[in-house]
Amino acid sequence: MKDSEDLLKKSLKAVDIVFEVLDARAPLSSKDMNIDRIIGQKAKIVILNKCDLSSDAGNKKWVSFFNSGDTEVALVSAVKGDGLKNITYLARKVITKAGIKNKSIRAMVAGIPNVGKSTLINCIAGKKKARTANKPGVTRSKQWIEAKSQFELLDTPGILRPREDQETFLNLAFIGTINDDVLDVGTLASDLIEKLVEIVPEELCDRFKIDINDKTPLEILENIAAKRGCLLKAGVVDYMRVSNIVLREFRKGKLGKITLEYPSC
Ligand code: G4P
Repeated sequence: MKDSEDLLKKSLKAVDIVFEVLDARAPLSSKDMNIDRIIGQKAKIVILNKCDLSSDAGNKKWVSFFNSGDTEVALVSAVKGDGLKNITYLARKVITKAGIKNKSIRAMVAGIPNVGKSTLINCIAGKKKARTANKPGVTRSKQWIEAKSQFELLDTPGILRPREDQETFLNLAFIGTINDDVLDVGTLASDLIEKLVEIVPEELCDRFKIDINDKTPLEILENIAAKRGCLLKAGVVDYMRVSNIVLREFRKGKLGKITLEYPSC
């Protein structure tokens, strides 16, 4: 990670602005707390990506939270291509404020793994134009992607590091940012159910057609297994299969648009 921090600092010298990408379902958990120290005075906008999966109420609250800290923020769905015009508008606004004018905007996309940095780069660049620029005599040309709008994008995103506390870890695991191979999916699915009971009980009941009253997360998981036919011989619950179903359907937005955490003020 020291290497990626050094790389990021080096790349910063070549750009006008940083696009800090966060996952709109868990903006705090997906934020690297060192980024502001690393980028210093460099212009920045926050991109709340995957807003197609987060709740409208959550999106609204997070936008006001960042705006109240004087940070411009764009709600984006890089897979759908939503919010791109706003990125252009806000980036132009921020760099103009920083005294940079009349030129294409050189930008770097930064964020922790899996927040959608590459998808965003391709989306801004436009699929067919997502190639490295080839300008003779420009030594930095290989590093840059010419985007169709007003941008030149650094083709290598800055990779940042999430915090390691338990709540952050769980939120990132729920949204699929941490590889399931290193996790106990049964425990994770049960932890996710506990969280969903707390924040969106109706969506949980509706999706799986279950009653959750007075049930523990494990009992709820077992009910879902029964509903979805995740049973082994002699009616034994196939915990692995049902856990994967719960995690996958949550991550794909099948339970609805859900924000896992809200700003504290
Ligand atoms: P990274 O560079 O930050 O590591 O993230 P990357 O772009 O690889 O995206 C990680 C996953 O998030 C990909 O899914 C990608 O399709 C998905 N993703 C990116 N932006 C959005 C968005 O705005 N909305 C939604 N719903 N998903 C988004 P994947 O399952 O890992 O790959 P694939 O199934 O797309 O191939």
